[in-house]
Amino acid sequence: MNTANAQTISLKFNESKIEIIDQTLLPFTEQWIDITDPKDAVLAIKNLKVRGAPLIGVVASLCFGIFCRKENNKQQRLFWWEQLITSRPTAVNLVHFMNEIKPLVDSETSGELIFKKAYSFFKSDQSMCDKMASIGAEVLIQKLGLVELPNKQFSLLTHCNTGGLATAGQGTALSVIKNMGLKFSQMMTYVDETRPLLQGARLTTWELGHTKQKYKLICDNMAGFLMMQKKVDAVLVGADRITSTGDSANKIGTYSLAVLCHYHKIPFYIVAPTTTIDSLLKFGSEIPIEERSPNEVRGFASSKESLQWALEEVEVYNPSFDWVPSSLITGWITEDGYYEKEDLAQGSFAKYQKAGVI
Ligand code: MRU
Repeated sequence: MNTANAQTISLKFNESKIEIIDQTLLPFTEQWIDITDPKDAVLAIKNLKVRGAPLIGVVASLCFGIFCRKENNKQQRLFWWEQLITSRPTAVNLVHFMNEIKPLVDSETSGELIFKKAYSFFKSDQSMCDKMASIGAEVLIQKLGLVELPNKQFSLLTHCNTGGLATAGQGTALSVIKNMGLKFSQMMTYVDETRPLLQGARLTTWELGHTKQKYKLICDNMAGFLMMQKKVDAVLVGADRITSTGDSANKIGTYSLAVLCHYHKIPFYIVAPTTTIDSLLKFGSEIPIEERSPNEVRGFASSKESLQWALEEVEVYNPSFDWVPSSLITGWITEDGYYEKEDLAQGSFAKYQKAGVI
């Protein structure tokens, strides 16, 4: 296995060391930090230095693999396995990857093999991103009538960051957007800023800024007006957990977009690898929703400065994710193909991995 040069825009690693780009410092500072042990990984995941459902799972499992290459003690391995799998509750990819590794921990398998397993998650996430990019482009080309009118002006809208900063590859929803941008230079992408932590404003603009494609940043509360003005032809977002019936959890604000799309009759797509499906859960209401610090809503802290606009004593509710009922979703673009509601009613998602609440 040659992993010496494994590098993406968010992650570098070999068999003994991981480095991640610190996403809390982007877009102003591109600083790589070492993840030397599982404690570093748990902190980086909790603090969103590394984020995005697939990438969290890849980094946690790689870090665990490297740790097991040095640590043979089963109790120590189990302790850090537990800390990693519970480091963020909503994204299920992490749970699936760590659950796949668990039998190797139980049977005291060599660290080499555990690392090899983690490396396979990294490789397969990359190829899943490539497949979603091409399947998603086919779906959009059909849906937006671009076969007949290839020069037609059209615009997409996305929320949060779903690119190479959220996956081991080129992304989920953003991989489709990047692929469409390569094929249709007239395309415009509207990027939701994504309050409270501004993953759209800080990260998606940084990624799209490295391409030649057109994009504009908007505040989250502008999306409805853009739709009324017929400036949005389709919305594409990622997901952190999808139930067997297709209810899909994603960054807070996604549900509002889906409702707006329904009202304005705009197609609304979830783009996610099948490692984001939790077929043990049936409904979105069963998905654990992470609640984060009130300070994220009372103000904002970045690498440059921190600013507080609400008093310390102001009470806050800060759910980091919401979920969209399948009835509001036009279709699910996965590496295994494109699904609509009728396919899900036939049990198309039932065959994928089961996780449940940890
Ligand atoms: O809190 P974050 O930044 O980890 O949330 C990320 C998202 O909600 C993404 O949209 C989701 O993980 C899908 S990206 C592949």
